[in-house]
Amino acid sequence: MNARAWQRKDLLGIAELSPAEIQLILDTAESFREVAERPIKKVPTLRGKTVINLFFEASTRTRSSFEIAEKRLSADNLNFSTSGSALEKGETLIDTALNLEAMSPDLVVIRHRYPGVPHLLAGRLRSGIVNAGDGAHEHPTQALLDAFTIRRHKGRLDGLTVAIVGDIEHSRVVRSNIHLLTKMGSRVRVAGLRTMLPAGLEALGAEVFTDLEPAIAGADVVMMLRIQTERMNRKLFPSAREYFRLFALTRERLRAAREDAIVMHPGPMNRGVEIASDVADGPQSVILEQVAAGVAVRMAVLYLLSGVREEEA
Ligand code: NCD
Repeated sequence: MNARAWQRKDLLGIAELSPAEIQLILDTAESFREVAERPIKKVPTLRGKTVINLFFEASTRTRSSFEIAEKRLSADNLNFSTSGSALEKGETLIDTALNLEAMSPDLVVIRHRYPGVPHLLAGRLRSGIVNAGDGAHEHPTQALLDAFTIRRHKGRLDGLTVAIVGDIEHSRVVRSNIHLLTKMGSRVRVAGLRTMLPAGLEALGAEVFTDLEPAIAGADVVMMLRIQTERMNRKLFPSAREYFRLFALTRERLRAAREDAIVMHPGPMNRGVEIASDVADGPQSVILEQVAAGVAVRMAVLYLLSGVREEEA
């Protein structure tokens, strides 16, 4: 598949993407990667296009990564700050979005605590919608940047064993990753405390573990996740100290994985809770490479969704 064959106006989730579409995004990101290494980090690709970033939830990496990707593509961008907006005066989300759309943006990047909000907007707005995380549902650009990072290290995605460990229940990252990795031929294992393992993971194609060691045994990739206390309405784990004892990735435990295994984390990390500091900063960690990959992947997604390909054609 080449860029001309791309049909979608929105990127809402990985669930609906075909392996060929995933491959195209990753290959396109590969061609944007070197922009970050140039003395002048800018290409004219999205000149004259407007992107609105609508973040209704906290974000460090995803928000700055989209902003930088937009600027490197020469798009005009606006960061809509939800605090201090008319949403605090009772305006509905749809009204806010329709008003922003009246200013003719080409793309809207949205993060929201409720699953399905990007899908709702995609049905109402002409602009392309990019899901930057909807509740515990999907976070497609995170899974794409994870896959990009894995592919750079392992040369492929098919036939790999990827262990994802932590708060599986509240993680949109894990859901998008299970979809992506299984579509691309990886074996996915998920592990967590019984209270953090929702039903239905096997149906998505993942193998489920309630202990860390067997889950990471022989794995090519070990991906650790944060405990999302902000999404818990009841206590699901004993204490940070107890959690560390049971489920943290330490140097000793990492020995169970393949010798050349890479260690990943989408951030934000809680050092000393799900991951030991020496592992996070150790030779197998690719955590900061994931962040670098995020910019290239988001440039690729914005480019493909913007429709500039047809204008070029
Ligand atoms: C994650 C998120 O917000 O889904 N972070 C990210 O986007 N890199 C994971 C998290 O909050 O733990």
